[in-house]
Amino acid sequence: MKVLLVGSGGREHALAWALAASPLLSRLFVAPGNAGIAGVADCVPIAASDFPRLVGFAVETGIDFAVIGADAQLVGGLWDAFEAAGIRALGPSKAAAVLEGSKGFVKDLCAQAGIPTAAYRRFRAPEPAKAFADSLGWPVVIKADGLAAGKGVIIAASKAESDKAIDFMFEGGFGNLVDLGASAPGRTEIVVEEFMTGEEASFFALSDGRHAIALAGAQDHKRVGDGDVGPNTGGMGAYSPAPVLTPALEAIAMEKFIRPTLAALAARGMAYMGILYLGLMITKHGPKLVEYNCRFGDPEAQVLLPRLKSDLLTALIAARDGMLGDFDLRWSPETALTVVMCNKGYPGTPEKGHVISGLEEAAKISGVTIFHAGTEWRGDEIIATGGRVLDVTALGATVAEAQARAYEAVRCIHWDGCFYRSDIGWRALKR
Ligand code: AMP
Ligand code: GLY
Repeated sequence: MKVLLVGSGGREHALAWALAASPLLSRLFVAPGNAGIAGVADCVPIAASDFPRLVGFAVETGIDFAVIGADAQLVGGLWDAFEAAGIRALGPSKAAAVLEGSKGFVKDLCAQAGIPTAAYRRFRAPEPAKAFADSLGWPVVIKADGLAAGKGVIIAASKAESDKAIDFMFEGGFGNLVDLGASAPGRTEIVVEEFMTGEEASFFALSDGRHAIALAGAQDHKRVGDGDVGPNTGGMGAYSPAPVLTPALEAIAMEKFIRPTLAALAARGMAYMGILYLGLMITKHGPKLVEYNCRFGDPEAQVLLPRLKSDLLTALIAARDGMLGDFDLRWSPETALTVVMCNKGYPGTPEKGHVISGLEEAAKISGVTIFHAGTEWRGDEIIATGGRVLDVTALGATVAEAQARAYEAVRCIHWDGCFYRSDIGWRALKR
């Protein structure tokens, strides 16, 4: 079977690595890929945003199945474009990807389906939004509708901050982060919501539109600095399983969040097929929804997939074909932990282009796999080209063992301007 994977980050390297192990696979193409992905697949120089060329390549090459890594392409309708050209692909469709694309839509859906989440209201003008923020008190959460590369949320600590955040969003302050074209939801709408206190965790499921199966849970580290300080990022490290997600909470995640959400979408004629990422806040009043994403997390995929003992490709095809009814996946009980190594400047504008050393030595450490997030070959050297550059991942019998192995590997690797958090796993270790 010929498979095309779309994307170029660490999540896509982990996906490519897992797909490459499938007994169903004859050839794996990744567009556009990166230096690490080139070790397990054929990289095709087509940008993930170039839908016509991706579809053209898939048709010409006789691709049997396509996998789309990132939200921007799913929300932008790449699944629909592949399927319209006769290429089977893992969704969701553009219509169902609204679950990630519009925060206001999700909040309304939760309210109607009785799914626990923060109190909220949607606004199209600044003055009523400010009055509602005042009524909630501070901190208060202000969210731009539409995709904003994980940066569309402002947690305002005072009236001055929430007023400023609301004005900023209505002036289009986040509008330039992800360009989805005129059809993108949002830009002119914001959600103002209650601030929830607790520990965040994510849980993943796979749906075929009618049936859903649980995948596994993980915990990300969103802030750039040790001790969870500094600006939000796409994720600085993760581990799976997350001890905060007890088996009882995982059951609640499926029964009280994922299944009612899928049922509500199906009832609206938007049956959801694909990976479903549930972001939860474990508050003292129980788990509440923070967000849904329509794809694997990055770097959560880098810790989920090394624990998956069953064939990923078989499962994704079963999801596409509506065959998850009696599907079962096997998972390793080990912990996987990943440390994201970044370029100086991230999550702002990173410094790029320095040569990376020590990759081979790091990869020799027992249990370690290095996923590339932002790298390129330059001659016979690998250079750091992204904000997030490498995801150094290790399996271990415990969180402590996985952490020790991952950091041993991290210490082998160097380039000018490299930095990383030195405390990935701290919440799990504190328990
Ligand atoms: P989102 O894009 O909705 O995932 O929000 C980004 C991050 O903002 C989340 O991962 C949380 O850390 C934080 N966040 C979002 N909504 C809330 C909320 N209502 N209360 C507390 N933190 C929140
Ligand atoms: N790591 C968070 C995300 O993928 O959205």
